[in-house]
Amino acid sequence: MAARLAARAGSVKSSFRTRMLELATGLDDIIALGRGDPDFETPPAIVAAGADALIGGYTHYSPPPGLPELREAIAFQLKLNNNVNYQAKQIIVTNGAQEALLIGILALVDPGDEVVLQAPRFNAFDYMVKVAGGRVVDVPTLEEDDYALRADAIRSVLTERSKLLVIANPNNPTGGLTPHAELERIAKLAEEHDLPVISDEIYEKLIFGGAEHVSLAALDGMDDRTVTVNGFSKAYAMTGWRVGFLAAPEWLMEPAVEIKHTLSICTSPALQRGALAALESGDAAVATMLAEYERRLELVLRRLDDMDISYGRPGGGMYVYANISSTGLDAETFCLELLRREQVMVFPGTMFADPANRHIRITLLSPYDSMEEALARMERFVERARGS
Ligand SMILES: Cc1ncc(COP(=O)(O)O)c(C=O)c1O
Repeated sequence: MAARLAARAGSVKSSFRTRMLELATGLDDIIALGRGDPDFETPPAIVAAGADALIGGYTHYSPPPGLPELREAIAFQLKLNNNVNYQAKQIIVTNGAQEALLIGILALVDPGDEVVLQAPRFNAFDYMVKVAGGRVVDVPTLEEDDYALRADAIRSVLTERSKLLVIANPNNPTGGLTPHAELERIAKLAEEHDLPVISDEIYEKLIFGGAEHVSLAALDGMDDRTVTVNGFSKAYAMTGWRVGFLAAPEWLMEPAVEIKHTLSICTSPALQRGALAALESGDAAVATMLAEYERRLELVLRRLDDMDISYGRPGGGMYVYANISSTGLDAETFCLELLRREQVMVFPGTMFADPANRHIRITLLSPYDSMEEALARMERFVERARGS
């Protein structure tokens, strides 16, 4: 019956992630630096708000675009923190940023359209574009440029079939943070080519070294062509809550709400109340988690330097993208063997639309002492691989 699969499903291969997870089930004492899921618990006040909401009767559908009080709070925060002018009626609360991205792509991409995406990237984008019938066009970002996205690189791949630009800033897996001046150039380019842009800002609150994060929609002329996507998963350690949102120009709202309704009717209202508590929390817990991620980041970079492994310095996010080609192994072999021999799980760049097979993504999402242990194991593994 496999011949009965739809073409879009038939060409999907069981991912390398599945292979890694299968291998991991037979092993003990694994230090997991693979998945992008914080090791912190969701702050208690947020958990309490979600639990209270369930007890208090938030047990039915909400309006498809979300609870009015949460949409208001999101619009308010976007104005306050990001200097962008979306009204509450331009917000759709979604099941994670993931659903927001899919809604944006389904609303904007026709079969045959080209969707311009930075590489390496979060590879769910590829499947979303495929579901919409579009074609991904890569814009390379480079280690020696700390993986910033460059307007000139985008310009060189644009064609008359380009329909949508999608950027993640900061990016996963590289931590690449696109500087303000470059975003201005990208905005100008989008205007020249009359392109809508989806700006995925899920790592916006996790910026290292106090660097500046700029929302694309805050730039001149961009609010009517930008869909801003964000969510609660990463900054508030709420991955399992599945709450995110998109903020869209008014012309996109009606179809986008219809797609949201079709995909999932609404986002669980009790969990939306938890997200509201997160916005009202003043972000002290986020600052504490970020400080710890930065401490771990310095540890990882220092230990990679010790191992003579190069990387682009991440500007934000929760990852380090390291170039392990000097070990003589390709990235997939490196990850499988590191897991098998030293019980440390990291993911290869090939899982992030990077066919070069030379990089690994290390998350900053284990306690400091277990990260120290993981890096000691990795050093031992690298020395063995190099035969020294
Ligand atoms: C760039 C990017 N966008 C979106 C998501 C999905 O986030 P959520 O958990 O809010 O669906 C991820 C998750 O890793 C991501 O890295």
